[in-house]
Amino acid sequence: MSGLPTTTQARNSLRGKAMHVRGVLASTRPEVRVGRNVRVGRGVRWRLEPGATVIIGNACEIDDGVTIAAARGAVLRLGDGAFIGHHTTIAARESIDIGPGTFCAELVSIRDHDHDPDQPPSSGTNRVTPVTIGRDCWLATKVTVTRGVTIGDRTVVGANAVVTHDLLSGVIAVGIPASVLRHVDD
Ligand SMILES: CC(C)(COP(=O)(O)OP(=O)(O)OC[C@H]1O[C@@H](n2cnc3c(N)ncnc32)[C@H](O)[C@@H]1OP(=O)(O)O)[C@@H](O)C(=O)NCCC(=O)NCCS
Repeated sequence: MSGLPTTTQARNSLRGKAMHVRGVLASTRPEVRVGRNVRVGRGVRWRLEPGATVIIGNACEIDDGVTIAAARGAVLRLGDGAFIGHHTTIAARESIDIGPGTFCAELVSIRDHDHDPDQPPSSGTNRVTPVTIGRDCWLATKVTVTRGVTIGDRTVVGANAVVTHDLLSGVIAVGIPASVLRHVDD
């Protein structure tokens, strides 16, 4: 993606966020670790609470308009070479781990939490379970990954799928809920 700011601007952008948070609560702020050659697009929203940890590996690319959110105590990690397509949302309340070389297309949603559907959303009651996505996966456009899901290495999730259950390594899954279409040819 041309025209994206590179690591220095990414670091400065993230430092700015940390300082903003520091003004609110001096003793804790997000811990953000950014690897080498990270590229961050325009209009990326960093919603990081004090005490959150975000780890961005080397050579990651975060495209325009992505939202990265991490609550207090949450750990959100992008492995080396991960690509996050434009207007994707990744929101962690406990843990989201995206493996090296994994690509998310645009408008993907990955969250490790829900509102409790039996309570009004304004109650603030959340159900939280970690999400793990392996290495070299491809999540196609508009995929949604719900809380508690583990996706194995080298798995492909087809456009518009909603992943509500674990997917093994090396499969192509499509649909709502996502189910296995076939194994990848390696
Ligand atoms: C899943 C995908 C990779 C195709 O995999 P494939 O193994 O080549 O699958 P095929 O095209 O041979 O289709 C096999 C069957 O799955 C169905 N299918 C394919 N993609 C599907 C999808 N996303 N959702 C539901 N069904 C799908 C096909 O209709 C076909 O069904 P049929 O046998 O009843 O006709 C592709 O369809 C897809 O979703 N691409 C994502 C495009 C995208 O988002 N690109 C972003 C670029 S980063």
